[in-house]
Amino acid sequence: MKMVKMMDKTRTHNYKNNNKMKKTSMDKIRIGLIGLGNVGRGVLTYMLNPLDSSKFGYQVEYVGISNGNKRRDFTTDLNQFNGKNLPMPKLTTNVLEDIINNPEIDVVVDAVGGNAEYDKTSLTYIVGAIENGKHVVTANKNNIARNLSRLTALANKNKVNLRYEGAVCGGIPIIRALNNYFFNDEILKIVGIINGTSNYILTKMHEGKTYEEALGEAQKEGYAEADPTNDVNGTDAASKLAILASLAFKTEIKPENITLIEGIDRIKSYDVFYVKEHLSKFRDQAHIIKSLGIIEKKDNKLELKVIPAFISEQHPLYGTNGAINAITIVGKFSGIYTFKGPGAGSAPTGFALVNDILDIGERIKQGVVANFSSFENTYELLNKMESSGFVRSVSPEHRNGVFGEKTKIFAKHGLDIYQIYNFPGHMTEGDDALLPDIISIERAKEENINAMLKELKSARCNHGEPIYLREDLVF
Ligand SMILES: NC(=O)c1ccc[n+]([C@@H]2O[C@H](COP(=O)([O-])OP(=O)(O)OC[C@H]3O[C@@H](n4cnc5c(N)ncnc54)[C@H](OP(=O)(O)O)[C@@H]3O)[C@@H](O)[C@H]2O)c1
Repeated sequence: MKMVKMMDKTRTHNYKNNNKMKKTSMDKIRIGLIGLGNVGRGVLTYMLNPLDSSKFGYQVEYVGISNGNKRRDFTTDLNQFNGKNLPMPKLTTNVLEDIINNPEIDVVVDAVGGNAEYDKTSLTYIVGAIENGKHVVTANKNNIARNLSRLTALANKNKVNLRYEGAVCGGIPIIRALNNYFFNDEILKIVGIINGTSNYILTKMHEGKTYEEALGEAQKEGYAEADPTNDVNGTDAASKLAILASLAFKTEIKPENITLIEGIDRIKSYDVFYVKEHLSKFRDQAHIIKSLGIIEKKDNKLELKVIPAFISEQHPLYGTNGAINAITIVGKFSGIYTFKGPGAGSAPTGFALVNDILDIGERIKQGVVANFSSFENTYELLNKMESSGFVRSVSPEHRNGVFGEKTKIFAKHGLDIYQIYNFPGHMTEGDDALLPDIISIERAKEENINAMLKELKSARCNHGEPIYLREDLVF
């Protein structure tokens, strides 16, 4: 990691001046927290209940909220957070004046986000704070994924530290692991369960629930938003994967560079049944479907995808259930590591931001700026990938010749079938009381598979959208 000595005399001088004006300013890092939602509350709860308040040396001066009159499901009386009688922050709706443009604030903690409008506001605050010479901690994955190298360059230019541990998989310290530990190794693969909502839904489907029932349960338990679109269609995972790819491969990857993004919203109970019951018995090894973010380096090219895929019990992510996240890193020299833990939630994510604040505090005290800023590598991104897996194609009717028609289409596109599975009787799901077939194929080029799927979709032997589920093998 590059350690750039803080050369800005004015800023160093400012600290000295502040020291003179206010004795506490060097040993008290002054924080402006913006956003008092799930993440903001997690940050505040810790900051006002630190493990060792006598040595803490951090003061949350302001907490910025959008609307002081808004009804909340918790009281905005900040006293509720204060377990150690630390000085209380001031609640403000004037974020620009009290936090972003306030010379008395050293670190801006951005816990704003959750929709496109909020993301825009959050980016304005991040940029404004950096340009005003403030260190920034943010949990906003969308902004970091789309602007990582630009914001890092801006932070370096303004000689401030930028941290975003909470932006990827909440409480799992994966950013630190990549930046500080795996930095010197050649990463060959990263595969992760990086969306807790999808993982929760798939876990429930393996317990026998339909997709709709599992989603309803996820919403009831607070694991899924009222509008779960970005979680179940892979968009949320793509933002996190872009950040992981940029850091692991020291390059600039944005979510739009991930050309293969498939959600779990097309997975049906019979896909789960096939994998869990038939495939597991056939291979004499338990298998499950997981939503995975995958980055692989092949011949100095990168392949990036967010897909539902089936994995065996040998896979390091096999036992990751419920809303838990896990990320496996394969290093050429260091080997295979799996990081597992809560990928979201007020306390774990808040704790990730607190750690970033404490890290920045140390940097301020040392007078150094240490941002991850190696984005100089360039890679060709693979888009004609190869994979193996199975196709689920629902037949519209019982009649002779349906199989033959299907297999002919596979053969036409050069695909080798190694097994066809018919479900025992009708597997019904909602109104879809039709008969699905599972057709497993040998490893093939994705372009051939896509061409086959396109033809199969409009063929008489198929009803609706056929889906293709890939297998992921780490070893
Ligand atoms: N929740 C998690 O577990 C988790 C995990 C990792 C990362 N993240 C990321 O962390 C960020 C925050 O997530 P969250 O779950 O805490 O969202 P949330 O519960 O919806 O809270 C968002 C907060 O942003 C505030 N806000 C919006 N515009 C504002 C403005 N102009 N000025 C001040 N405050 C403003 C809202 O304030 P009002 O209440 O006043 O409207 C609200 O308190 C998002 O980027 C999210 O992707 C969340």
